[in-house]
Amino acid sequence: MDIKTVTLVYFSPTGTTKKVLEGIVGTINAQVVRTYDLTKPESETCVFEEIDEGLVILGAPVYGGRIPMEAERRFRRVKGKGVPAVVVVVYGNREYDDALIEMRELAKEQGFKPIAAAAFIGEHSYSTEKSPLSAGRPDAYDINIARDMGKQLARKVAAAVKADTMREVAVPGNLPLKERHEMKRIPPVTDKAVCTKCGACAGSCPTAAITVADTVETKAELCILCSACVKICPVSARTLSTPQVEKARAWLSETCKEPKSPVIFMD
Ligand SMILES: Cc1cc2nc3c(=O)[nH]c(=O)nc-3n(C[C@H](O)[C@H](O)[C@H](O)COP(=O)(O)O)c2cc1C
Ligand code: SF4
Ligand code: SF4
Repeated sequence: MDIKTVTLVYFSPTGTTKKVLEGIVGTINAQVVRTYDLTKPESETCVFEEIDEGLVILGAPVYGGRIPMEAERRFRRVKGKGVPAVVVVVYGNREYDDALIEMRELAKEQGFKPIAAAAFIGEHSYSTEKSPLSAGRPDAYDINIARDMGKQLARKVAAAVKADTMREVAVPGNLPLKERHEMKRIPPVTDKAVCTKCGACAGSCPTAAITVADTVETKAELCILCSACVKICPVSARTLSTPQVEKARAWLSETCKEPKSPVIFMD
C-alpha cells in the first residue's frame, strides 16, 4: 500500500501532542499532509470530510489517565472508512493509564483500523518556571523517536496489501472504560495590573471560555484547565494556582521526577 495522504487529527491545547504528530509524519514522505485541528472551538460545529484514503494519525493529551472529554466529543465528529490509523497519547510524565486503549477503541468506533500506537511525554500543562514538570518535552530525543516511528510506519504500510490484512495493535489499559463525569473547575485568574489586553489568551482557549474587553472574563463552566491561556500570555498575567493545582504540582514534582521514555506499539 502506498501512503499518498496522511491526515493528522489532534486535540492539543499546549501544543505538545501536535509537535509529536508532526515528528511522526515528518519521515513518512506522504505527498499530502492534511490537518484536522480539533483544538479550535470551531471544531465543535464544523463538518469534517470523511477520511477514506491514506493513513490517519490521531493524537490527544492525557487528562486524569484518560483523553480529555472535550477531545473525545470532537473526535466523534471525524469518521473514517476502514483507513489504517495510528493512535498517540502525550502525557506529563506521570502515567497514561487507560488513555491509549481509549484512543484505540475510539478510533475503531469512528471507522478506522488502529495498526500502531504510541505514548509520548510532553511538558506538563501545570509546569511553571518555578515548578518545572517534564519541562521542554517532547525534546530532541523524543522527536527522534517520533521520526523513527514515522519511518517504521511507512515500511509497515508499504509492505501491506490492504488495510484489512494489517493486525489491530495491542495496547495496555483496562476495558471497559470507567464512566466519567464533568467536574466543577476553578479557572486561571488574570492580574489586571499586568494584563495588556492583547487577547492572546482568548485566541488560545479551546473552549472559547475567555473574553477580553475592559477586563479578562473566563466562563468557569467552559474551562477544562488546559493551561493554554497561562502558557501563551506574553506578560505572565494569567496564572493557575488554586490550592488543588498547587497540591498536584507539589506531588508531581516529588513523585514523577524520573524522566520516562516514549513507548511504541507496532508489530
Ligand atoms: C486536567 C489535566 C490532567 C492531566 N492529567 C495527566 C495525567 O493523568 N497523567 C500525566 O502524565 N499527565 C497529565 N496531564 C499533563 C498533560 O497530559 C501533558 O501536559 C500533555 O503534554 C499536554 O498535551 P498538549 O500540549 O497537547 O495540550 C494533565 C494535564 C491536565 C491539564
Ligand atoms: S494573554 Fe495575558 S496580557 Fe494578553 S489579554 Fe490575556 S491575560 Fe492579558
Ligand atoms: S480558560 Fe481554561 S480552557 Fe480556556 S485556555 Fe485557559 S485553562 Fe484552557
